[in-house]
Amino acid sequence: MSHLPTFAPWALGHFDLKAPLDRYGAIILREMVPKEVAQQAYLQARIAFADPGAYIARPEAHPQARSGYTPPNVEGKMGQGPNPHRHFFDYRPGRRSLAPGKDVLVPLHRALCRVAKIALREIDHVARRRFSSMMDYPRATLRAAECLNDFVDPGFELFPSHRDFSFLTLFVGGAQSGLQVEQVVRGEKKWIDVTLPFGDVLIGIGTIYHQYFPQAVPLQHRIVASSPYRLSFFSVIDPRKHVLLPNGELASQFFARVMAQVRYKR
Ligand SMILES: [Fe+2]
Repeated sequence: MSHLPTFAPWALGHFDLKAPLDRYGAIILREMVPKEVAQQAYLQARIAFADPGAYIARPEAHPQARSGYTPPNVEGKMGQGPNPHRHFFDYRPGRRSLAPGKDVLVPLHRALCRVAKIALREIDHVARRRFSSMMDYPRATLRAAECLNDFVDPGFELFPSHRDFSFLTLFVGGAQSGLQVEQVVRGEKKWIDVTLPFGDVLIGIGTIYHQYFPQAVPLQHRIVASSPYRLSFFSVIDPRKHVLLPNGELASQFFARVMAQVRYKR
């Protein structure tokens, strides 16, 4: 059971989204993505991961872009070496597709852009800022990540505790259990299991948000092996490359710096 605040769609616009987001580092928005859209995306991603010929091993079918696929043992948590337990691909509409000629993830990407727009509008309204125009959400990366464990051990970290280098991260409901978020419960830090149904979206704040709002603590999260197979989708909402961040770096410099710290092979 999650301890995170949950908003139903009808509540948006009536309640301040930013206060709970700052306090918990995350909130859950219910029924934000049509269930069939999320289900279809998970199905297609599962097929693509199971059939390397469909997408992953055929970058030649996509001459304009890198495949977007990152195998295991390439990226990992900063300072902890490459992660052998998962692989992923990054989808961008019009630039990368799941299978050549098919843009099956467009509806999910579109739905997540709508969610990002709503969240940014609420944050702008409360904070009197203009994040909506600084963020690159129409071209946000949608990542499908698959864990490669074939065992169940909730004490085993498939992806260690970390904070995202994003403004916001949208975790898409429908993934198997395994996501845990750190929350303070009765004065103590605890890992809370979060399993979201199809349609729901968890919005977590990243380290860029923290730069703008230092009182807000970025969402500490990890993936544990509580299911023998886990496929997840999440989308990162980041500033456009030319945006000057509060720490004095351009967003492009920030991303180049942090990526160099988590990417172990090129
Ligand atoms: Fe993350």
